[in-house]
Amino acid sequence: MTPARNRVEVMHGVNLNQLGRRDPLLYGTLTLAELERQIEQDARELGLVTRFFHTNHEGAFVERLHALDGEADAILLNPGSWTHYAWAIRDALEIAALPAVEVHLSDVQRREPWRRVSVIADLCVATISGLGPAGYRDALARLQSELERAGT
Ligand code: DQA
Repeated sequence: MTPARNRVEVMHGVNLNQLGRRDPLLYGTLTLAELERQIEQDARELGLVTRFFHTNHEGAFVERLHALDGEADAILLNPGSWTHYAWAIRDALEIAALPAVEVHLSDVQRREPWRRVSVIADLCVATISGLGPAGYRDALARLQSELERAGT
């Protein structure tokens, strides 16, 4: 029997460990640990298994993406401001070659013009932005249907 393809790597990038201290109007009031607890619970309800990663170091983010081969079936990522300019992360995401969804807590399309650019969007099956923590649940659901589709 083929093993279930349900392992989601949840990757948070630069400054996301400061949630709870950042502008609550943009990012809400949950800390990263609280957000991850909620993601884990939502994932469990969808039959997904999560593993979490956060770093403020771009190279470490890249190396985690390199290491996902055989370790994860899908990626949910919020790279923070790296989203807007980090071509090395884009290349590493392409190398990982897994279904990915990009999530932003705030509505990046309605903020400064430089935030409207995403160097990873076209590698992702969806981009979810501006829904706060609920966006992560939507992203998990999107990945689950993607994995189901790929498994049939
Ligand atoms: C963010 C949006 C980015 O523009 C910003 O740099 C972040 C967080 C979000 O979740 O809304 O750090 O990715």
